[in-house]
Amino acid sequence: SLLVPSVVEIAKELSTSIPSRYLRSDVEKAVVPDQALQIPVIDMQKLVSGGPNNSEIEKLDFACEERGIFQLVNHGVDSTLVENLKTQIAKFFKLPMEEKKKWWQTPGNAEGFGQAFVVSEDQKLDWGDLFFMLTHPLRLRNPRLFPTLPSPLRETMERYTSELNNLSTAMIGKIVEALHMKTEEMTEFVGEGRQTIRVNCYSPCELSDQVMGLTPHSDATLITILLQLNDVDGLVIRKDGKWLSSTTPPPPDASIINVGDILEIISNGRYCSVLHRVMVHPERERFSLATFSGLGFDGELGPAPSLISEQTPAKFTRSKSAFATRKILKKLGSSLLVPSVQE
Ligand code: SIN
Ligand code: FE2
Repeated sequence: SLLVPSVVEIAKELSTSIPSRYLRSDVEKAVVPDQALQIPVIDMQKLVSGGPNNSEIEKLDFACEERGIFQLVNHGVDSTLVENLKTQIAKFFKLPMEEKKKWWQTPGNAEGFGQAFVVSEDQKLDWGDLFFMLTHPLRLRNPRLFPTLPSPLRETMERYTSELNNLSTAMIGKIVEALHMKTEEMTEFVGEGRQTIRVNCYSPCELSDQVMGLTPHSDATLITILLQLNDVDGLVIRKDGKWLSSTTPPPPDASIINVGDILEIISNGRYCSVLHRVMVHPERERFSLATFSGLGFDGELGPAPSLISEQTPAKFTRSKSAFATRKILKKLGSSLLVPSVQE
């Protein structure tokens, strides 16, 4: 039995009306921000190659502090790899349900096909299917998932997640510089690290202003690297009490990076995680791939000691990172604990 139904399957039945558990009366309209609030663009090449007084590091610091989100260009991820990934992921979601069933989420485990943020049987559901999976460290991978993915998606995903592991490590290194904290402090927090991915497929919906592709949330991560897999926009971010959607197309080959709750804590609140949600398009499906960087579970999480001073006292209590992360996830109503939801 399935935990949550497949939206891809429901959306196939053009004749059926949208089930009420997807329809909401509280979908606030998003507004298009003026130029000043557009998402900043950061150049990875400039971050890496600049010497002392690198102005790109200052731009990064501004982006993390004032927006919590930015576009990253020149990130060095192979564009052919990304193209392949786009094609193969679209195919993956189009596999017959009979085949996809074997990867469906099971009670208490959010990995596989299904949804995030499911906490009760009578809550509203998101208008989208996702595939969630732990990818790093290797020994924690679920044998039911990654190794059983169809070829060539499995190989492509293997390469992409490994490239992204390097990219996020490099980016976190630059964030350490921007924060003026000590490298060893971050290394200690991160431990062996943890990478998970979520592939999202948002089916079109004729009542697009009454459904939510993804419920408002912030990410329980250090950083999230988001790849938009086709040219359909949908990401909406919260800023100054408004929901903002962008209409300017992202620079080619850009990835979106956002600050997560863990980085908010480590930076002692200097950087804040950004609340975001996803809107659904009335006619076109949308695909995206989020890569989450988190901490290994045997260390601690708290503000970096070098960022605590008399002027900037600790805003968060230091605690075991496994415990703290679980608390963050719980606050988010996250699907780490997925109760059984029957149709
Ligand atoms: C996410 O928040 O994980 C996905 C955002 C998106 O699909 O744009
Ligand atoms: Fe997110």
